[in-house]
Amino acid sequence: MEYEAFWKIITYFYYIGGLLALLKIYQSVTSGIFKSDKRLDGQVVIVTGSNTGIGKAAALDFAKRGAKVILACRDLIKANEAKEEIIEISKNKNVVVRSLDLSSFASVRNFAKEIIATENRLDVLVNNAGVGGVDKKTEDGIEWGMQVNHYGHFLLTNLLIDLLKKSAPSRIVHVSSMIHKIGRLDFDNMKCERSKNGFMVYANCKLYNVIGSNEFARRLEGSGVTSNSLHPGVVNTEIMRHVPYLVRCIVNKLLQLFFKSPEEGAQTTIYLAVSDDVTNMSGKYFVDCQEASTISITEDREIGQKFWEKCCDIVGLKPEERFI
Ligand SMILES: NC(=O)c1ccc[n+]([C@@H]2O[C@H](COP(=O)([O-])OP(=O)(O)OC[C@H]3O[C@@H](n4cnc5c(N)ncnc54)[C@H](OP(=O)(O)O)[C@@H]3O)[C@@H](O)[C@H]2O)c1
Repeated sequence: MEYEAFWKIITYFYYIGGLLALLKIYQSVTSGIFKSDKRLDGQVVIVTGSNTGIGKAAALDFAKRGAKVILACRDLIKANEAKEEIIEISKNKNVVVRSLDLSSFASVRNFAKEIIATENRLDVLVNNAGVGGVDKKTEDGIEWGMQVNHYGHFLLTNLLIDLLKKSAPSRIVHVSSMIHKIGRLDFDNMKCERSKNGFMVYANCKLYNVIGSNEFARRLEGSGVTSNSLHPGVVNTEIMRHVPYLVRCIVNKLLQLFFKSPEEGAQTTIYLAVSDDVTNMSGKYFVDCQEASTISITEDREIGQKFWEKCCDIVGLKPEERFI
């Protein structure tokens, strides 16, 4: 009997191994790779959360293309290390670090003020920074993940909109996740204080990213500024850093073996920021460098409008700061 049980376990391992191998093959075949030698000389690109992961890989790509790249980061030690590495690999010295903590509206305002005071243009804003599994509230009284992933970026984009418009054609890229499809929008729970767990907070804020991106697109119609959102794939990054140690170790190993590298995960971000194919596309959602389907709530104009007003109130945008 013990012998039988042993072989049963071995067989399960085979099945799981086989499934994971198939997953890896599927991932490699479908993974969109953006191939273009288009240059970005003279352009200014901001990438939030670019001291590691997908953001850092995207920032390196933009630097290689000759852009001035602004690493908008919270951890400045890590950000300066990333900057040195990016300069060394890209041979582009025009890479700067600016302090941005998306969990604080005051920090977002300071960052935007500094950018407006020091930059003449902004060609691409990549809203990439993200966090999951932090179970506390920010100094502004909002669920941590919700403020970092959505409200901080919402405020930032609004504050930089005039600079983006002035630099048109320009682009806003929102890094969401396929998990947005299970997120929920409840107008009576916009700060997610009643959401059941950290996972749902994450899913909700990724849904907010897509709804927000589409509403930016509507409001920016005719301005030359585009707004699109994306799912980067399942990517081996530090995104699991706040989950319990054991779960993190197992998931990280799986991510490393069977899913995308940060460079692969950055491809759709780079595609949306650089490609001529999407110059006139706005209000769309992308996966693997291709337009993809999303859920109907993200395309509902009335919901988008109401969502927008609520978000403006929550982030404290004054009437004169609301661009439409
Ligand atoms: N990895 C995936 O499988 C996956 C899948 C779908 C979507 N995404 C999305 O992809 C984006 C990038 O994530 P990643 O996978 O590259 O994860 P990551 O390696 O953990 O990078 C996240 C970045 O966000 C920054 N960040 C966190 N809190 C911040 C704050 N308060 N203010 C400013 N920056 C902050 C981090 O900086 P610190 O080092 O200072 O914390 C880091 O640079 C996120 O929006 C994530 O939701 C990832």
